Amino acid sequence: MTFFVHTYGCQMNMRDSEAVAMLLARHGLQPAATEDEADVLIVNTCSVRGKAEDKAIGKLGMMAATKRKRDGRIVGVMGCMVQRLQGDLFKTIDGLDFAVGPRRFARIPALIARIADGERHLLDAGIGDEDIDDLSGHEEGAVTAFVNILLGCDRRCAYCIVPDVRGPEWSRPADGIIAEVNSLVRAGVKEVTLLGQSVMRYGLGNPVWKPAVPPSSRGYTEPFVRLLEAINDQTPLMRLRFTSSQPSGCTAVLAAAMRDLPAVCPHLHLPLQSGSDAILRRMRRGYTTATYLEALQRLRETTPGLAITTVIIVGFPGETGSDFERTRECMETAGFDNAFIFKYSPRPGTPAAEWEDDVPEAEKRRRNQVLLEDQDRRGQRINEQLVGETLVVLAEGESPRNTQRWSGRSATNKIVVFEPEADCRVGDRVAVSIERAMPQTLYGRMIKKEG
Ligand code: 5AD
Repeated sequence: MTFFVHTYGCQMNMRDSEAVAMLLARHGLQPAATEDEADVLIVNTCSVRGKAEDKAIGKLGMMAATKRKRDGRIVGVMGCMVQRLQGDLFKTIDGLDFAVGPRRFARIPALIARIADGERHLLDAGIGDEDIDDLSGHEEGAVTAFVNILLGCDRRCAYCIVPDVRGPEWSRPADGIIAEVNSLVRAGVKEVTLLGQSVMRYGLGNPVWKPAVPPSSRGYTEPFVRLLEAINDQTPLMRLRFTSSQPSGCTAVLAAAMRDLPAVCPHLHLPLQSGSDAILRRMRRGYTTATYLEALQRLRETTPGLAITTVIIVGFPGETGSDFERTRECMETAGFDNAFIFKYSPRPGTPAAEWEDDVPEAEKRRRNQVLLEDQDRRGQRINEQLVGETLVVLAEGESPRNTQRWSGRSATNKIVVFEPEADCRVGDRVAVSIERAMPQTLYGRMIKKEG
């Protein structure tokens, strides 16, 4: 039997799809070369905005329609949408065989076996008894990898569906995380990104259960920082990243760790969401623009050259023209290296969905466009300061656009496209002299390998 997984959504979804693919392979299924050839089709879904759900439903409908031509084909859906829509998905998508929620992926092989035996419409969307170590497999040959450290979310931002669909916050035991990173390093991975909704809450959430992080030799008190330290000290890993962050986690201890742990990259993804205090309060974000900027300052003082990326929602209920202007100003003050901008989309069951979605679509589109243009100018200005500098880049392979050139990322997570030397290999750390800058990309030439 062969399978194909189609993925929508965030980095966590990409990681989940990879883990499921490796799990299926361990159960004797083979990856299909193309979607057309697969016996088992799975769509991994996202619920964060309405559009993401519409796309997944369309895709699943098309996949299910192909069952008429190919007898015995199995179609399943996994991820956030399953938790939200549960058994209704079988009514919406004619021909859907199984649906699995985000805390139940380890059960997918068993569900496929039952469908193959003739059962239909199997739903597993429970939470609890996480078997995440079954989901620790990674594709071979990669240079970079994602590792889950925190599932779910206990925060209740007014617009966000994630706590409902990914369940309560659960910190994965540290020994499993460290073992996973170690095995990645043995397999040649040079850069690991630790994943969670609010990674800095690692080990803080559950008052009863502790994720058993090793003691700190540097006197770090916070579990997340101790986890960074353990990985830094125990594995000869080149680069360690993490996402996503929140301002309350940007403590003096984290600042010290980012300065003192060589593996930890000088980049922080710190969602701002809005630059208006009135909107932030109604979003229930738990910080003000002032405390957000202070958190940034704390880290910048100890980590010069720290790159900051963010996420903004435009058109949140009640966002006025002057709220929006505050967001523009705050983004400029923060000096973001890059920003993702989203138009607000009401999510059923969230507090904000009760409020009038009063910013017209055309105005949301305009605000989105204005922020993108602001960010392009800002990104251009920041990146131009790097022209003439030499950056260390992790070579990831040929550039997708131009195979004469290679691409990789700097420690600050900037995409760098460069002319390689003949001895350049995937996974090398190379020094690149930066010759040209664009808002989201740097261009240059390789000088030498960095050993
Ligand atoms: N509408 C628009 N964007 C949203 N996000 C989360 N919920 C919504 C929503 N209801 C955005 C946030 C989050 C990112 C992953 O998606 O900016 O950080």
